[in-house]
Amino acid sequence: MNEHLILGQTLRFSGDPFDAPFETVTHISTSGAVLVRDGRIAEMGEAQTLRQKYPQIPVTDYGSDLITAGFVDAHMHYPQTAMIASWGKRLIDWLNTYTFPEEKRFADPDYAADIAGRTLDLALAHGTTTLTSFCTIHPQSVDALFHAADMRGMAVVAGKTCMDRNAPDGLRDDAKSAYDDSKTLIDRWHGTGRATYAITPRFSPTSTPDQLRALGDLWAEHPDCLMQTHLSEQVDEIDWVRGLYPDARDYLDTYEAFGLLGQKGLYGHAIHLEARELDRLSELGAGVVHCPTSNTFIGSGLFDMAGLKARQIPVGLATDTGGGSSFSMLRTMAAAYEIAQLRHVPLHPAQLMWLATEGSAQTLHKAGEIGSLNVGAMADITVLNLQSTPAIAQRSTRTTDLWEALFPTIMMGDDRAIRDVWIAGNRHQPRSA
Ligand code: GUN
Ligand code: ZN
Repeated sequence: MNEHLILGQTLRFSGDPFDAPFETVTHISTSGAVLVRDGRIAEMGEAQTLRQKYPQIPVTDYGSDLITAGFVDAHMHYPQTAMIASWGKRLIDWLNTYTFPEEKRFADPDYAADIAGRTLDLALAHGTTTLTSFCTIHPQSVDALFHAADMRGMAVVAGKTCMDRNAPDGLRDDAKSAYDDSKTLIDRWHGTGRATYAITPRFSPTSTPDQLRALGDLWAEHPDCLMQTHLSEQVDEIDWVRGLYPDARDYLDTYEAFGLLGQKGLYGHAIHLEARELDRLSELGAGVVHCPTSNTFIGSGLFDMAGLKARQIPVGLATDTGGGSSFSMLRTMAAAYEIAQLRHVPLHPAQLMWLATEGSAQTLHKAGEIGSLNVGAMADITVLNLQSTPAIAQRSTRTTDLWEALFPTIMMGDDRAIRDVWIAGNRHQPRSA
């Protein structure tokens, strides 16, 4: 039996702070304890109580640092790690100028392995314990990411990005090879260790109707897989979709018509939605993923968090690396706060932390398994130093409760705020250490 007692301030949720007053669903202990046993959270409690109850178990004491569930990034593109923060374009231009040339390089499995490892190490350094990634059209890009995740013990969701039109030479498959390659990868990886496969049509402009139909058929054959794609990110993109799919009622319908709308679907961005799209997402309980640093960086628009949550649409939070401009879920929470402010909705730090952990886990259909400090969840844990820079430290001397102490770290923090990360109950040792 592998056991460890982790001490510090603890924060866990027993419900969604968008649905209930945050005080009723958040549980904070200033001298808390997490008992980890065989990779899972076995018990939560007060440090003194659990120390007395389990005097023999090894202890790591983080003092006043905050112990939280590891962050869950619900939408990113690991192949874009090396081109994050590329200047000056809007979505379609940005894809053609920066993204597609970089994604071509993933035909080389050594390059894919290098960037996969680099991405996961950057994620861990920023306190992210699970990420959900698009790969490239190359099956070996999927192998590289799942293999790198397995080496680190991380739960990762990923899939081969499928594109059979409006993409350059070397980055197109076809309807049949997209189906066949995705199926082979599902058989190889889905449910192996901590891997989850997501069937991944990039977005409807880069797939023919035939390809969308083939992937819809594949999803029907593998309903336990997730399906991830993009939806209504920019207005010009929506106009393009309208021209490519003249019979569709709206953007979401280009997926729905081919069997690609369902509860286990993950729709990235979802900014400019029409009433019917909102109704369908809500009826099905399909998840949307908010990518706030990307939405400001590429100039996409202001996500309607309050409107979507009011309709009970599950919402996850994501970096959208490399359209997003940061690997940090702290910075991502800050951007979500800023976008909500522009819509005159001040998100509470409890809501931001919930989105970055349990909210994302819920969209991945992994609530209770990851993104949680509740008993039974996997012990994927992030420890935050709430005084990681002089600027944050001087602010936090004035605080009266955890939320006030945490908010400056959410708004101003980065990888320097990550004291430690635990994966499946083991303290992560950075590769450079
Ligand atoms: N839409 C289709 N592909 C992409 C991508 O790689 N990044 C973003 N932000 N939007 C997309
Ligand atoms: Zn994306």
